[in-house]
Amino acid sequence: MAVATIGVPRESAQHERRVALVPAAAAALIQHGLAVLVEHGAGDRAGYDDAAYVEAGAVIAESAAAIAAQADVLATVGALSPELASAVSARHTLIGFHDPLGDPTALQRLATSGAAIFAFEFMPRITRAQSMDALSSQATVAGYHAVLLAAERSTRLFPLLMTAAGTIKARHVLVLGAGVAGLQAIATARRLGAVVTAFDVRPAVKEQVESLGARFLAIDIASEEQVGGYATGLDEEQHRLEQEALARACADADVVIATAQIPGATAPELVTEAAVESMRRGSVIVDLAASTGGNCACTRVDEEVERAGVLILGPSNPAAAMPGSASDLYAANVRAFLQLICPEGVLAPDWDDEVVSGALVARDGSITSERVRDQLARVGGAE
Ligand code: NAI
Repeated sequence: MAVATIGVPRESAQHERRVALVPAAAAALIQHGLAVLVEHGAGDRAGYDDAAYVEAGAVIAESAAAIAAQADVLATVGALSPELASAVSARHTLIGFHDPLGDPTALQRLATSGAAIFAFEFMPRITRAQSMDALSSQATVAGYHAVLLAAERSTRLFPLLMTAAGTIKARHVLVLGAGVAGLQAIATARRLGAVVTAFDVRPAVKEQVESLGARFLAIDIASEEQVGGYATGLDEEQHRLEQEALARACADADVVIATAQIPGATAPELVTEAAVESMRRGSVIVDLAASTGGNCACTRVDEEVERAGVLILGPSNPAAAMPGSASDLYAANVRAFLQLICPEGVLAPDWDDEVVSGALVARDGSITSERVRDQLARVGGAE
């Protein structure tokens, strides 16, 4: 069988600066027996020029159309451009974030091409697949960036400083949701000298929060943990109790980093308008759940909102703000997955493998994932 060619198109989304493969990952794949074709300028915004890819052994293609014509696998970060999507056929395999639960209708359209589509959103969260867990790698960058963003926009310094001109008190950072992004936000805020408090509905994270030097906020509610460690939604009464407790915590915070999400559902509203209005002027809220509805009632995606002197930021794609590190990590996830589905350089996925079947969302013209089919039925686009 022929050696598979991995195509890396330039990302098409407006503010996307990441690239699916960086030169080091391309070199590792070539070493593994694959060929790599990179669209001209694909890595520019992440700090990798065409020459770096050529040095790694990749070939540069002049256009996305050339990539579609020659590559067997299309590795992307986000959705394909309309031009590229229309060139996809049954001989292609796609790997990337394909937003299977957020936009199942677009995925269904893409699936009619007959291509095999793997979505990183569905990568099983098992030990063997950790190196392929792009949700986690990108959440790490997002959590770090959110704190830097807040620190930069805050009117006050984070650490306790004793100076000849007087003492500056340490700032209070409240982190909501202590998953991958939240834990990284805690660690980053601590490194900057802030006093950190965190809350998550999964009681299991209390120890992790405390081991990072933060206080775990005691609220007497808890959600069930699903397979893979994800939270489930709360009932109405628990949600109300949480909002009340968090309103009190917000009034004491200078910065809120909100990261709480429920896969496939709208993000829980944790910070009400009243809670925002109770915060000190000059405080900052960074809402990493903005793209799934936001944890704060005042959040507007990719807009700066000011309410009662409080700044609310809702970046939709925070990992793209640090495209170098984000791409390095993402490319390592892509590389690990490609090495799994292309043993000895030949595209031959073991469809019975738990990791392969877990990440697969479409094949032979049909949606293979039950979760996507359920979501399609909910949004009224059932097959
Ligand atoms: P996520 O991005 O879906 O959610 C972020 C956090 O928000 C979660 O910790 C969730 O519990 C929390 N949350 C949801 N509703 C909330 C509410 N109403 N109030 C407060 N917090 C709320 O989740 P993420 O960060 O992608 O992963 C969550 C967990 O999954 C990880 O912390 C870990 O335990 C597990 N995991 C396991 C992996 C593995 O076994 N290989 C890899 C990565 C994560």
